[in-house]
Amino acid sequence: MNTNYKRNLVTCALPYANGPVHIGHLAGVYVPADIYVRYLRMRGRETLFVCGSDEHGVPITIKARKLGCTPQDVVDKYHNIIKKSFADFGIDFDIYSRTSSEIHHKTASEFFRKLYDDGKFIEKESEQYYDEEAKTFLADRYIVGTCPKCGAEGAYGDQCEKCGSTLSPDELINPHSAISGSLPVKRATKHWYLPLDQYEPWLRKWILDGHKEWKTNVYGQCKSWIDGGLQARAVSRDLDWGVPVPVDGAEGKVLYVWFDAPIGYISNTKELLPNDWEKWWKSPDTKMVHFIGKDNIVFHCIVFPSMLKAYGDGYILPDNVPANEFLNLEGDKISTSRNWAIWLHEYLEEFPGQQDVLRYVLCANAPETKDNDFTWKDFQTRNNSELVAIFGNFINRAVVLTHKYFEGNVPRNLKPEQIDTDTLAQIPAIKKAIEDNIESYKFREALKEAMNLARLGNKYLTDTEPWKVAKSDIDRTASILNVSLQICANLSIAFAPFLPFSVKKLNNILNIETLAKPLTWDNLGLADLLPAGHHLNQAELLFNKVEDEQINAQLDKLASIKAANRAEAAEKAEIKLAVAKDKCTYDDFSAMDIRTATVLEAERVPKTDKLLRLKIDTGLDIRTIVSGIAEYYTPEQMIGRQICILANLQPRIIRGIESKGMILMAKQEDGKMRVVSPEEKVLNGAIVS
Ligand code: MF3
Ligand code: ZN
Repeated sequence: MNTNYKRNLVTCALPYANGPVHIGHLAGVYVPADIYVRYLRMRGRETLFVCGSDEHGVPITIKARKLGCTPQDVVDKYHNIIKKSFADFGIDFDIYSRTSSEIHHKTASEFFRKLYDDGKFIEKESEQYYDEEAKTFLADRYIVGTCPKCGAEGAYGDQCEKCGSTLSPDELINPHSAISGSLPVKRATKHWYLPLDQYEPWLRKWILDGHKEWKTNVYGQCKSWIDGGLQARAVSRDLDWGVPVPVDGAEGKVLYVWFDAPIGYISNTKELLPNDWEKWWKSPDTKMVHFIGKDNIVFHCIVFPSMLKAYGDGYILPDNVPANEFLNLEGDKISTSRNWAIWLHEYLEEFPGQQDVLRYVLCANAPETKDNDFTWKDFQTRNNSELVAIFGNFINRAVVLTHKYFEGNVPRNLKPEQIDTDTLAQIPAIKKAIEDNIESYKFREALKEAMNLARLGNKYLTDTEPWKVAKSDIDRTASILNVSLQICANLSIAFAPFLPFSVKKLNNILNIETLAKPLTWDNLGLADLLPAGHHLNQAELLFNKVEDEQINAQLDKLASIKAANRAEAAEKAEIKLAVAKDKCTYDDFSAMDIRTATVLEAERVPKTDKLLRLKIDTGLDIRTIVSGIAEYYTPEQMIGRQICILANLQPRIIRGIESKGMILMAKQEDGKMRVVSPEEKVLNGAIVS
């Protein structure tokens, strides 16, 4: 590891511009990154903080289709909302740009072209799903079907949202197009692939041997990807939204969003510093750190570094990729589609001016090593019993007492005592602990240390009781308040990376503008930050109590979202009930001979799409049934399966084959059919009643 870096390039995952940002984004990526950057800047280290919107990818086209507008309309809208949310929360990027920008298209396009010219890609023709009705290739997301892992309906071709499994469209049961609903067909198409397998030995050495200091969750994921064997990844897609593939004969193809998006870090640097960007990207003196969520690990640790390596030309690699786990909300996974989230812009409407409270709670409870839960109760407790009762209370007492006894001027330290030195002597250790924790990306611990400094101040006041001492010994009171105010100034430094809005208020109270010694990080620990005679402004509260009513209102709001989701589910169930059949008699039912049976053989009926001819052991006999299930099952999937049949159905001739009976199927809401099978193996011929 290089410890002699001269400058820091810090990036945050570019959020998709297909929705606003919520507390999960903030806790996982943007708050920790912002703390890190503010800290580096306070230490006087040259730092560049880069982010922007990720404006390509299929979900944005899906959203546009749903809303009946263009993808550009979608990203224009959300780019502005997201950008404002970050600014409102003090996430202090040097640049927040976007991947639909001209400079990004140019940069990404050139990047691809160089790799292409250098022969770094493999060109491969493959069979991809194609929607003949809509006349378009179908991205994985556009293919829906039944999850092969958990059986959930509506799983996407790349992922099942129910069980979280990563999928490929080939694995889906009953795949169909999300655009037209039609059965997708396979069609040949050409794409370019980055042969990650060729980078495996290098990645192994670089990460597994060279970066053992990476967080366990990050290192572990990298190891399992690498040990699992890396495969060539397609870097282009058949889609009409994105950066066009800059190669002849690539009409209708764009760069895969995960190829262009990380290049956005480069484009945005270029946009900000057209003449000076290379020193940030091509100098070994630059320490690059990517802040991301855990679902981005493979792209930032394996794919993008391989792209940079393939490009060569001096591009640096990340020194670290501190990825966080996920934040849940009141015990449930945050979900945009279920509206289960706290949106930043809504929070600000309900808690105006209280950005720092959320920053504090999200950092104190950040999902650094495991998924964590955000609860409103915890939010209230941390605000009331930490921010208000410890930090705010200490500052307020020190400043108010100074106004009361010394007209708001920092009193002279006339009568020092042992407890003063003992108290102040603890600050350097706290400083060191904050530094070590921030530099190893342990922001929760770092914040705890800063809060310990406030605790120290509070305890000092409680132990020394200047309001009592003032009655008999004003010189000692002067000392106590002098020491307390020095701690206040130290708190302003210690909390600056974490709570920028409150520190600004605090600095105003302490009137720091006129100070000789600036409140830089290096000065944290000094006992003479505020000289005697320095005049303070009036105290104002740094934090306000959060009342039960406010919390209850938030909980009510979440409860009504839950209720709305439930109502929607019930409505769907209602629709199902509406199509239920009329009542039948017991005799009607018992006239049907339903039995268990096993499929012995299965084959497609020639020249048909839907029919399978099945040879079945009914326990009574071996017979043939022709069934219209080829749409849902391959012959292989049927062979050996135990099923239920209606055994006494009048035989019928179908396509020249006599079919004796019917297979019981469950027809789902979406029209898709599944066979009904006994959960446990039973004897063939068992009567179902
Ligand atoms: N948009 C992606 C997400 O939200 C992150 C992209 S990060 C970048 O998961 F590297 F591609 F920029
Ligand atoms: Zn699933």
